[in-house]
Amino acid sequence: MNGKRILLGVSGGIAAYKVIELVRMLRQAGSRIDVVMTAAAEQFVTPLTFETLTRQPVRRDVFQQWTEAEAGHVTLAEKADIMVIAPATANTLAKLAHGLADDMLTVSALACPSPVLVAPAMDHHMYLNSATQANLETLRSRGIHVVGPDQGELASGIIGQGRLVAPDHLFGSIRSILGQSGPLAGKHVVVSAGATREPLDPIRFISNRSSGRMGYAIAQALVDAGARTSLISAATHLDPPVGATVEQVESAADMHKAVTEAATDADALIMSAAVGDYAAREVSAEKVKKDDDDLTIELTRTVDILATTERPGLIKIGFAAETANLTEYAKAKLVSKGVQLLIANDARQAMGSDDNQAFFFRPGHEPEELPLMSKHDLARRIVDELVRLVEIRSTGEGN
Ligand SMILES: Cc1cc2nc3c(=O)[nH]c(=O)nc-3n(C[C@H](O)[C@H](O)[C@H](O)COP(=O)(O)O)c2cc1C
Repeated sequence: MNGKRILLGVSGGIAAYKVIELVRMLRQAGSRIDVVMTAAAEQFVTPLTFETLTRQPVRRDVFQQWTEAEAGHVTLAEKADIMVIAPATANTLAKLAHGLADDMLTVSALACPSPVLVAPAMDHHMYLNSATQANLETLRSRGIHVVGPDQGELASGIIGQGRLVAPDHLFGSIRSILGQSGPLAGKHVVVSAGATREPLDPIRFISNRSSGRMGYAIAQALVDAGARTSLISAATHLDPPVGATVEQVESAADMHKAVTEAATDADALIMSAAVGDYAAREVSAEKVKKDDDDLTIELTRTVDILATTERPGLIKIGFAAETANLTEYAKAKLVSKGVQLLIANDARQAMGSDDNQAFFFRPGHEPEELPLMSKHDLARRIVDELVRLVEIRSTGEGN
């Protein structure tokens, strides 16, 4: 998002105040935001609010005197990396569907060569009206991205569909659309995250301390790089990145099934989930009752998902979270799991933390020690490495 130019079109809906939060998020991410408003939008939010937050003048008038630097009425649209229309009123959607251009917002939308995203927000009946539905269908068929609306309580007090999607969802959608032209465009990558839970009885399980943060950060970095991203997630409460397909699983066996299915057409598999190595041989159908004696539970090995998932050309990346003899275990795993990259780290430092200090192990190379960095930065490094592996695979060189 850093350095991207976002052209934000605000039309006259009650939800206009919510995009102020979106502007703040975009600014924080380092984007430049130019705002165009309809006359009706000014009834809800003043241009001054957006001007203060974006540090750019708000454009409302097609016929204003344009300075040489501003160039003209279509310049903002031509320079934008994406145009986002939020909230998009029923009226503005109708104008867009018919190619009208009678204000700065609609002129810009027609003149914008980059992706256009609309986020409808209106009364439930206005949204369900067949005219609005037909207009949205027309826009979709022309490649316009339609995000939302959500279900919930509307300004009128009724519960229905028509709410503007939350600012963080809009932000994620913008991020995912901007990523679509990235180096992994057209590639399908499966990434696993979180800690599996191996049930003992209906209420108890064995699990581990993995938070899922590393896998979710990788999924976000994959979306940013344009990959079709399948996130197989076990036991975390994190918000998945917008643009990734998410499947929630519980046990190692569930994860094995989900990964196997998702990987049938995958270019790469990144196993960052902490999958249980052992599961109870028998899961009790009823709660195990306590008595005065000790309890022995017999455990059996689970399937090694990374080692057993095979497909011609599949690039495999794994993790080794150890508490001792890191190098020795990592080198052994590099071979036993058949991976092109193994990321080794100290489990005590990495689990549950926002940061990670890792080593990259590659077949036939000395390990590379990376500095301590955030999991998001490490995720980007891993995805850079995947891009390199994809290039090597497509040029037919060995690794
Ligand atoms: C209080 C109030 C709230 C409104 N909220 C919405 C809304 O959420 N969505 C919508 O499509 N129209 C809404 N309207 C109607 C639009 O403001 C109206 O259709 C206007 O012509 C839209 O112009 P624009 O698309 O050029 O911004 C609202 C009107 C009023 C008075």
